[in-house]
Amino acid sequence: MVPEQSVSLDQVILSSPAVLIGGRMEENPRVDFVTGNISLFGLSPDDLTEGRVTLDSLIFGEDREEARRALAECASSGAAECVREYRLVTPTGETRPVRDYRIFHRGGTGEPCAWQSTLLDISDRQYFERAARRTEESLSSVLAVSGVWAWEYLPETDEFVGSGCFPVDGRGKEKLRFFRKKLWEDIIPSPDLARIEESWAHLLEGDCRFSVVEHPVLRPDGTRGWVSVSASPCLDERGRVTGLTGLTMDITSLKEARLKADSQAGRLELLRSMSLGMMEDLDTDSLLERILRSAVEFAGSGNGVISLLEQGGTVLRHKFAVGLHETMVGETRPASAGMTGQALRERRRIFTKDYRTWEGRIADPRFESITVNIVLPLFHGPHDFGTVGIHFTGECPGLDDLFFASLDQFAAAASIALENARLHETSQREIGEKIRAEGRLFAHAALAAASAEAAGLLLSHDHRGTALSSALATLSEASGAGRAVLLRNMPENGAAEAAAWGEGGGLPYPVDNGPVCAEDYPLVYERLASGRAYLGPLKQDMRGGIAAVPVFIGSRFWGFLALFFQGEAPRYSAGELDVLRTAAYNLAASMVRWEADDRVKEGYERLQKTFDDVIRTMGFIVGRKDPYTIEHQERVAVLAREIGTVMGLDPWRLEGLRICSLVHDVGKVEIPGEILSKPGRLSPLEFELIKTHARSGYDILKEVDFPWPVAEAARQHHERMDGSGYPRGLKGEEILLEARILAVADVVEAMSSHRPYRPSLGIEASVAEIRGKRGTAFDPSVVDACMEVLRKNPEIIAGEGKSFRRGG
Ligand SMILES: [Fe+2]
Repeated sequence: MVPEQSVSLDQVILSSPAVLIGGRMEENPRVDFVTGNISLFGLSPDDLTEGRVTLDSLIFGEDREEARRALAECASSGAAECVREYRLVTPTGETRPVRDYRIFHRGGTGEPCAWQSTLLDISDRQYFERAARRTEESLSSVLAVSGVWAWEYLPETDEFVGSGCFPVDGRGKEKLRFFRKKLWEDIIPSPDLARIEESWAHLLEGDCRFSVVEHPVLRPDGTRGWVSVSASPCLDERGRVTGLTGLTMDITSLKEARLKADSQAGRLELLRSMSLGMMEDLDTDSLLERILRSAVEFAGSGNGVISLLEQGGTVLRHKFAVGLHETMVGETRPASAGMTGQALRERRRIFTKDYRTWEGRIADPRFESITVNIVLPLFHGPHDFGTVGIHFTGECPGLDDLFFASLDQFAAAASIALENARLHETSQREIGEKIRAEGRLFAHAALAAASAEAAGLLLSHDHRGTALSSALATLSEASGAGRAVLLRNMPENGAAEAAAWGEGGGLPYPVDNGPVCAEDYPLVYERLASGRAYLGPLKQDMRGGIAAVPVFIGSRFWGFLALFFQGEAPRYSAGELDVLRTAAYNLAASMVRWEADDRVKEGYERLQKTFDDVIRTMGFIVGRKDPYTIEHQERVAVLAREIGTVMGLDPWRLEGLRICSLVHDVGKVEIPGEILSKPGRLSPLEFELIKTHARSGYDILKEVDFPWPVAEAARQHHERMDGSGYPRGLKGEEILLEARILAVADVVEAMSSHRPYRPSLGIEASVAEIRGKRGTAFDPSVVDACMEVLRKNPEIIAGEGKSFRRGG
């Protein structure tokens, strides 16, 4: 069948994979020609051309009927060509897929008269197609399993076409098409839509080559998920964007895990910062508030209460609360009741999802809305402090194991912080007590020392005012008061008035030293008057305080000592108050003694004056008979005193000597004046009369109870040592010393003075007289003393030559 000249063509045909075959159209079409490359199917051309096999019989049984029918339809339909694919079975039983490209040759009637096919073995193509299909299928499966949807975006139709697992509803494997706009409106929450549209626009405009966007999606069942969309543009040869391809991945679980991890990390960070804060807080009340606030914040609740055990752990008192239980603050309940009771008993967290149905709930209308209730016990070592309660009134998601583990850690940290605060407070209290005890001891010692010093100052100062104010200043300084005031009670005024005060020590107290009236300060006044000390403010609304102790002299409320403080008065102990009482008593007693001394002195001075007046009156009485006697007696008094001084007599005896001198001639009052003042010599009788004045003086003066031997001295002043004197002729030591001194002074004064009846005889004569009779009439020691006086002070007998008197 193949022309010889066409050997080269035959060779071409033989090397081609396409087998040419044809024949006439008959009922059972026979093959008229076939190219040699039919050998590709294990046949020789003769097998077909000689009718050993037909093409129809070579078609694989399952495909044969369909192929026959389709080819017949093509032939009868008037089509010029027909393409079919079916399998051929080779003589070795191998099945080969072929593509049959058939042309019909038709006659004038249009009926096909011949056919010609090009058979092409499509085993390789089918293999690759199957492989590609399998790859696509496995990719789809992988995408479906991994929750990834691979898509292509077609801008002309605004459509997505994709396969894999559509993450919104989980559809997988089949290809899905969506109009982008509709899809997005359905699945993307509106707040996120604008953001995603914007990034999409950037991609389409070629601004970026790759983009990854995460956004939430709303699922048809109403739940919410998360997807990650990675997209990149498809570009033509000129770099223009023709579409987009990308992957959409379900990242819901990843996102949730990440959120959970973030929340857990946040929770741990919160726990850490709360724990640090709690550890630094050493004030119990402030710490309790902090624990409560932290617990509520940590749990994300708005309600909580922190309660402390009291009365040996039998009672639980609600210390602080937020939210629901704020009205419960201050209330107590038995420590064994309810969930708190169980938490304390079992020393573990107690939790219920619905308190309203909890078996051991406490019936209280305030608890009716509580659903979730968590009670954490606070304890450390042997110490149970109390509980923290956290309450919710609705659903509370997120109370997982991690949450509770963290909450337990929180409770443990809070308990340690409470233990810290307890230890701190205990040690502070002990240190404080020690310091206070030392301070009290020191204050007590300082007060005692000041009290002793004040007592010394009272004795050492000549000036009483200075003594008192110095003593009070010392007390004020030692006590740290601004001022110490000694107030004397004036019952007639109904007030205590400042008697003395001293500044020193603390800040000056801004009050004057006005009286403290019983009416104005009843509390202070009445307390002190009843013998008790007073520590506190002077008045209810007055700044500063006083510490006051009363003074009683005998059983009489004399007054009080008040220490004025700018701030609060110290809490003096009984011992310290005793020290103050002693100091106050010393001050008051000194004042009382001084006043008594003053009265005695005043009385003495008054008495002295009266006495002097009496003595002077006696002189005047004598002076009425003999005016010169007054001056005589006064001069004798001066001289006698000087003699006594030289002889070493004490002041008391000297005073007695002066009195004796002033009245020694008082007896002359009984002698007629004319004898006393008679000029010239006296008759013996007259002289005898004169001599009676010594005894008369005695008689007058003995009626007076002098503290000195005044009367006796007057009787003896004319006695002489040798017994030559009168009236009794006493001798030597029988005569009083006062009388012996008087005798000398009397003679010296009489001889030295002028008298009406004679002029002065002169000092020399007087001296000669006493010197001449020294040891006979006169006491030698008195004479010597008199000589000493006259030698030192010759003018002592003043008025010499001015007056005359008949010898006394
Ligand atoms: Fe005389």
